[in-house]
Amino acid sequence: MNSRNIFDDPTFFENYRALRETEVNYNDQLEQPAMRRLLPDLGGKTVLDLGCGFGHNCLEFVRRGASRVIGLDLSRRMLDQAEAACGDPAITYLCRDMTDLTGLPQADLIYSSLAFHYVQDFGRFAQDLFAALNPGGWLLFSQEHPLVTATPGGLQHYNRDEHGKEISFTFSDYGRPGRRECFWFVDGVEKFHRRFSDIVTPLCRAGFRLDEICEPLPGERADQIIPGILRREEIKPTFLIVKAQKPGTPSSV
Ligand SMILES: C[S@@+](CC[C@H](N)C(=O)[O-])C[C@H]1O[C@@H](n2cnc3c(N)ncnc32)[C@H](O)[C@@H]1O
Repeated sequence: MNSRNIFDDPTFFENYRALRETEVNYNDQLEQPAMRRLLPDLGGKTVLDLGCGFGHNCLEFVRRGASRVIGLDLSRRMLDQAEAACGDPAITYLCRDMTDLTGLPQADLIYSSLAFHYVQDFGRFAQDLFAALNPGGWLLFSQEHPLVTATPGGLQHYNRDEHGKEISFTFSDYGRPGRRECFWFVDGVEKFHRRFSDIVTPLCRAGFRLDEICEPLPGERADQIIPGILRREEIKPTFLIVKAQKPGTPSSV
């Protein structure tokens, strides 16, 4: 369990909020379109959103017909914003570590956008996620891609040819899973690197059936908004998205 949440740091929080408010960001152009495409039917369903942040997705689930949405986040600052801007009678926001799923209603969808790389023990967590789902329920999560989380200190970089064109990507320590600390607006942002196998195997062992693994590429429009984004994603993916299902017959609505 993480003892400290960087999202409650005032400097980090203001910078992160400003980033998400810009019209042009990687989340909105790459990650969110892919996550929305992979959402199952939510009519009458119960959804847990782990690391829900500002609550945008919780509200989207209600718009899509979910009858009950529970958004968990460790950051009081993020939840204050979520309650103010994305409140709805069907949504409950809880300030709690997402690895503590005790006492929550069984879910038809466990969703998490860009938060699982903050979890230390993924093996145990995968089992708890499986237990928290109804039969036939879905797990859909995105995280920073293992090629991004690998390098200590976030010191990975693109290499350029003599014309300045990005041609390759340098990273290290892929085969050394564990804690990483990097600078992102502030020093000391803590994440956990897992190899691809350290993500997929615990899910399979827990009992999940993998449905889709997605490493999203931008459409043509995205490349016009952030020049070079398509080329960068062709060199190295930014996000890893996993959609998996708990076997069984879905509960009737
Ligand atoms: C990059 S933000 C993503 C927020 C939101 N899912 C979105 O896509 O807009 C990651 C969120 O995970 C939360 N978080 C990090 N570690 C957590 C933990 N152990 N338990 C609950 N939330 C956590 C942070 O407070 C932050 O709101």
